[in-house]
Amino acid sequence: MRMLQLLSLWLLCSHATGANILAVLPSVWRSHYLFGRRLMQQLVAGPQNHSVTLISPHARGEADVAAPLYKIREIRIEDQDLMQNWLDMGMSFEAEQMHAQSVMERFTRMIYAGTTNVDLLLSDAQVQKLLTSGEKFDLLIVDLFLSDALLGFAYYYGVPTVAISPTGANSWLNNMFGNPQSASLDPSNFLPFTERMSTRQRIANTLMSTFERLTYNFFHLISQQSVYSSHFEVLVNELPNYRDLSKNLSLALINSHPAMDYPRAYLPNMLEVGGLHLRDPQQLQVPNHVRSFMEAAPGGVIYMSLGAEVQTAQLPSEKLSTFLDVFTHLREFHFLLKWETEEFIQPLPDNMMINSWWPQEAILEWSVS
Ligand SMILES: *[C@@H]1O[C@H](CO)[C@@H](O)[C@H](O)[C@H]1NC(C)=O
Ligand SMILES: *[C@@H]1O[C@H](CO)[C@@H](O)[C@H](O)[C@H]1NC(C)=O
Repeated sequence: MRMLQLLSLWLLCSHATGANILAVLPSVWRSHYLFGRRLMQQLVAGPQNHSVTLISPHARGEADVAAPLYKIREIRIEDQDLMQNWLDMGMSFEAEQMHAQSVMERFTRMIYAGTTNVDLLLSDAQVQKLLTSGEKFDLLIVDLFLSDALLGFAYYYGVPTVAISPTGANSWLNNMFGNPQSASLDPSNFLPFTERMSTRQRIANTLMSTFERLTYNFFHLISQQSVYSSHFEVLVNELPNYRDLSKNLSLALINSHPAMDYPRAYLPNMLEVGGLHLRDPQQLQVPNHVRSFMEAAPGGVIYMSLGAEVQTAQLPSEKLSTFLDVFTHLREFHFLLKWETEEFIQPLPDNMMINSWWPQEAILEWSVS
């Protein structure tokens, strides 16, 4: 939180009244949005009277209603379009299909999906209207994950950029900031390795990082550059080289923590802010019917979710029946299962509750309190 205070202080010094912040969270992954949105909520909640314009493909969830709404203006890109684009690019949210693709295939598809995603976002009528409205901003906060073309906003408005990285640092972010990343020490985000790699894993990691570097330079940069030029050339007289923009970032807020990940060195303007999205326990509430279901469990509660996007309901049926078989036999436990469709595949066992979106933080908080 100290870092947030520093950021607020900086914004405060540059403007006697609150700063007008433009935040762009282009990712189709809801978890990215939730992380970024918490940062905005904390920024507008301070005494400095900052205001935020937030562009994203996500709708405000029920859990977010408590925030002081008047200071966050949300511009929502039709998520159906972006989602469809994501699927059209061969990306999937199904666990099995994700595993069926090789790391390299998935990675290459992701680069193209990222570019078309940003292109659609910048083409959106509401975004175009904002760009030509004459409104001025003081700061750009952007989720920089395969979305570098968005840095055109910083140049257009003449403002500093804060990059946020909800998935932790990666080789691209390190590269933009000039932070060292060593293939023998730092595992790629796309490989399931820890920092303690065997020789064989280090070799694989070296190959992967070479692949990341090549595809970044030859596919990613070129495709983002064309999106950047086509959208911003019409707005400014002389567009700077796009590589110069990506080397001109002021601050990175990285969603990791040495206690959860591993301790590693970062430049002083790259801050690890893992846990930033967590709320005060007093603000968290489990709905009454869920609370009584949890309290009634003789042995405890097991909460199962595969994350914001991956659908439990789409697991292959033999895996599901194995899970359910085990769950129904563990009578002393009660299960809360993230389940995305209306219908359950069989009569719902009485030690199980399903929901497409749980108040996860409150549930986990309940278990430690
Ligand atoms: C906060 O900023 C808004 C405009 O963004 C302004 O209308 C309002 O008066 C400000 N409030 C305070 C307490 O400065
Ligand atoms: C770099 O960022 C600063 C603001 O932090 C801005 O004044 C300057 O024009 C930017 N340079 C380029 C090439 O974007």
